[in-house]
Amino acid sequence: MCGIIGAVLVQGLVAPLIRQSLKRLEYRGYDSSGIATVNAGRIYIKKDKGKIDDIHRRLNFDALPGVIGIGHTRWATHGPPSRQNAHPHIDCSNRIAVVHNGIIENYQELRESLVDRGHILLSETDTEVLPHLIEESLQTTKELVQAVAKILPQIEGSYAIAVLDTSGTALVCARKESPLLLGLGTTGFYCASDVPAFLPMTRKTLVLEDGEIACLTAQGAVLYRLLSTGGLAQLPPRQPTTVQWTLDMAEKGGYPHFMLKEIHEQPRALLDTLRIRKEKLQKFAEEINKHQTVCAVAAGTSYHATLASRYMFSQIAGRFMHSVVASESPEIIDTSLGNDAVIIAVSQSGETIDTLHALKGLKRQGCTILAITNTVDSSITRLADDVLYTQAGPEIGVAATKTFVTQLACLASLSIHLGEITGKQKHREASELFLKLNKIPDLLQSIIRNRESLVKETAQQYVAKPSFFFLGRGISRATAMEGALKIKELAYVHAEGYPAGESKHGPIALVEEGFPVVFVAPNDRTRRFILGNIMEMKSRLAEIITICSSEDERLIELSDRVVAMPPTLSNIFSPIGYVVPLQFLAYYAAIQRGFSPDQPRNLAKAVTVL
Ligand code: G6P
Repeated sequence: MCGIIGAVLVQGLVAPLIRQSLKRLEYRGYDSSGIATVNAGRIYIKKDKGKIDDIHRRLNFDALPGVIGIGHTRWATHGPPSRQNAHPHIDCSNRIAVVHNGIIENYQELRESLVDRGHILLSETDTEVLPHLIEESLQTTKELVQAVAKILPQIEGSYAIAVLDTSGTALVCARKESPLLLGLGTTGFYCASDVPAFLPMTRKTLVLEDGEIACLTAQGAVLYRLLSTGGLAQLPPRQPTTVQWTLDMAEKGGYPHFMLKEIHEQPRALLDTLRIRKEKLQKFAEEINKHQTVCAVAAGTSYHATLASRYMFSQIAGRFMHSVVASESPEIIDTSLGNDAVIIAVSQSGETIDTLHALKGLKRQGCTILAITNTVDSSITRLADDVLYTQAGPEIGVAATKTFVTQLACLASLSIHLGEITGKQKHREASELFLKLNKIPDLLQSIIRNRESLVKETAQQYVAKPSFFFLGRGISRATAMEGALKIKELAYVHAEGYPAGESKHGPIALVEEGFPVVFVAPNDRTRRFILGNIMEMKSRLAEIITICSSEDERLIELSDRVVAMPPTLSNIFSPIGYVVPLQFLAYYAAIQRGFSPDQPRNLAKAVTVL
């Protein structure tokens, strides 16, 4: 997730305005940034690694001349944060500059053929292929908008781009699957990843749809539909809408809190994570397979992701995986594991000191370390032998939500690749599993759309309860534990996440009339046992809140409250969907109890003390 902005002013200097817009997009990424402007037939660029204000202090963005410019704030995906990898990227002749948000899946092939044709590419990014392709296209096409249109049909993946060239009359932007909005002002026209970028300049906005291209000049915006041939069909002018948000609301995408915004961003984050290159996952899976012992190490919500993935590894790949809380690792596995062990270290921040400390010990013992993190260049990446990046984008709410589902997606993909290597999955079966996994972003979208208000009501109904149980069996045990953690963290309510089968060995002693017990119960092979656990709780007059398939009539009948889930959600990947109602429950419980879900007391996003 990066932030892009493009602006064409009627008069004045565009660079200071772009710099301030980038500041308002910094929540989308902040490991490097850059601005390009065009003036009197020349492109000017300033870019570097680091935060916008620091770069500005060193390079003075505001000195860039011209009324047309583009800017970018980066959240690294391809290539570490560096000056060379920072956007804007240019072509060989310094005639075209491009900023991009998204992931170009076939960039490797495009890059190789560009190099074969004599182009010199300077960065490791996927984006850099774009200016070079446009450079070629401009040799046979006069207008920039046509040149951009011509190259886009060959781009696989997602993009929101803004392009300028030395002709200096127009700025072209286009979009496929990554967000891009137009801002229509009286003194300028803008395109940006999000409204806050241009909110101080204009409240009039238009959403650029997938497959559309816009050409911005000092006279206004002209919209086109991109044809599969690379041609353009001009669209009739569209009425802009007027945004009523304050700047603070706009930064949260109109949501009252980052956490709610991030819950809603999960389908997108998942889709991006499911785009991780197959070769990369295969390499990871092969490395895992080489080792006799597989052990996951993580903390907090990331630990719950590893707990769920144990079931995936076992059922899909036939490989047993240990999962150890990072802070316990030095006491139990440091001295017993050696070079026949591979450690899968999971951490959204890549900075949790418990996890880093554990990894240092395990590395000394000779273990191979494979990291899964959301943060490029974080400390964990320097300790690890190899790294996989989840594509959740920056997560600002302290409670992990979208990073959790992307960790699960990453681990699920890994388990399928591993399953193919171990022979537990035939190629056809693995393909079916991938198909199921790839359907989840849409299912998540429907869960978010259709279940939020129901869960909000549920939170209202139970908000006064002092204590909760969250129970699940098999893979749902991890989901239940995550549900309990979320409500503890945010609503400061006592909650225990427990394996449902184990609840009769102690926790049940606490149950009395009206005690709320949340069951996470997909229709998998544990369902017939969970039925018994529900009966045990019911006969002690507990209030039963169940998350189960909408087709599970028996469980629906037995429960006091039900959050029904799509039956097409695959059981082995169910935590990715079933956790969503639990995130909403914790969020709305916190709101109703008067607490801020974004900054829960005593907690931090990255815990850097042992
Ligand atoms: C903190 C955060 C949690 C997070 C945990 C592990 O406690 O509040 O949300 O799950 O750290 O963080 P990591 O960055 O290693 O995933």
